Amino acid sequence: MLRKYFATVMVLILLAAFGEEARAAGELPGQRPTTIPASPASIAFQSEGLRTHVDRVDIGIQVGGYDIFWTPGDGLLMPYVARESSMLLIGNNLKWAAPGVLTLRTARNEYNFAAADSLVAWAEARGMKIKAHTLVWGEALPAWLIGGGYSRDELLQILKEHIQTVVSRYKGRIHVWDVVNEAIDSNGAYKSNFWYEMIGPEYIELAFRWAHDADPSALLFMNEDGTEGLGTGSDEFLKKIQALVAKGVPIHGVGLETHVNLAYESGASTAKPAELAVNIQRLGAVGLQVHISEVDVRIAVPATPSDLSKQADVYTALYKTCADNKACTAFLMWGVTDKWSWIAGAFPGQGAALLLDEAYNPKPAYWALGGFLRVNTDKCFAWAESRFAEVLQPPNPAAATFDDFYYRYYPVTRNYVAVRQGNVYYWKPEEMPAPLPVISLKNCIDNATARGS
Ligand code: XIL
Repeated sequence: MLRKYFATVMVLILLAAFGEEARAAGELPGQRPTTIPASPASIAFQSEGLRTHVDRVDIGIQVGGYDIFWTPGDGLLMPYVARESSMLLIGNNLKWAAPGVLTLRTARNEYNFAAADSLVAWAEARGMKIKAHTLVWGEALPAWLIGGGYSRDELLQILKEHIQTVVSRYKGRIHVWDVVNEAIDSNGAYKSNFWYEMIGPEYIELAFRWAHDADPSALLFMNEDGTEGLGTGSDEFLKKIQALVAKGVPIHGVGLETHVNLAYESGASTAKPAELAVNIQRLGAVGLQVHISEVDVRIAVPATPSDLSKQADVYTALYKTCADNKACTAFLMWGVTDKWSWIAGAFPGQGAALLLDEAYNPKPAYWALGGFLRVNTDKCFAWAESRFAEVLQPPNPAAATFDDFYYRYYPVTRNYVAVRQGNVYYWKPEEMPAPLPVISLKNCIDNATARGS
């Protein structure tokens, strides 16, 4: 309510202050970033948010549990996540026992869902999709499990119960599950982790089947690192995936983690865009979706301006690889601010890997990615304006909440077209204050592209 009131007042002030002058320039003030504040205490820099431009490819951001549940947190993270992403990736709170966050599996017969429940409700309240990470992984396992002396049969039972309990709790609410995480080495062989050693390779197939039984509507993914590029490792990985699909295992997608440095090096492999593209295509040919699933681009710290500009290129090239390949349906980043990134701990001496710096200031990569996304939206505006010319009308400024939209004003026709959350809107005065969605952003972009505009 307060926000709407504030937005309305702001619009009135801006119109009063700039009036026709701003309109003659083609845009209202405030649409594009002008200066970047040094240290915002809240969301202070001007941007419509990456999520505004989401069409076919979801933008996801991983939350590790830090801000809400990891003391001390800073109370700032979540609004940024909400503004920038269309998909929340729950990164740590659904692992069995991730360090530093509330443990999900406190004991053999105990689950603590408090953190995950809150994140799920938070994302739902904001109309975001949810991706949950992860049901079966060789790491982040509790001591009672690995030191428990359980037999193979007991472990099968424990794993089955875990998957049934966790997946069915959120039935119909989690869009994508990372069912199995990092099960294959970068040379394409099964990783000899706890589950592989104790159960054998069939733990993978069983996990997918149990998850599917518990929530038939969820998309089930295998998440992998080190196989983003080409070589025998990713060939072997592909064969294993093909074998699962051929057997009728309910697997719907593959996540390629893509934790890289400025040379696209990802652990033992590389994630060069051209190679990633081939991987996406050939996984797509098996009938699977692909996510670029855990992007961050680490730099030796302190990062120089030239590093940050190279990093911007890496981010846009990776995003473009996803956008250009139909099988790729989401581009997910492993966090949004360098303040809460895992890189400093995992790669000593490196950091600065995400879109916002430690004070939540946008870095060149943020503006580059935003600019890249906006090109599509801008293309669609011209098309939508010509298509809906007869109905497009200027909005009623007293009722419009411009801060929610990325919009363009057409001074000649005096029409407004706007996008928000994957929809294109126009304003029709008699139906104010609610703007009408006229078409999805995806259709709009497809139409604009087909027209060659
Ligand atoms: C990382 C988390 O970000 C850290 O907070 C945690 O301490 C260790 O795990 N690939 C994955 C993720 O699939 O689960 C890892 O997450 C990062 C690498």
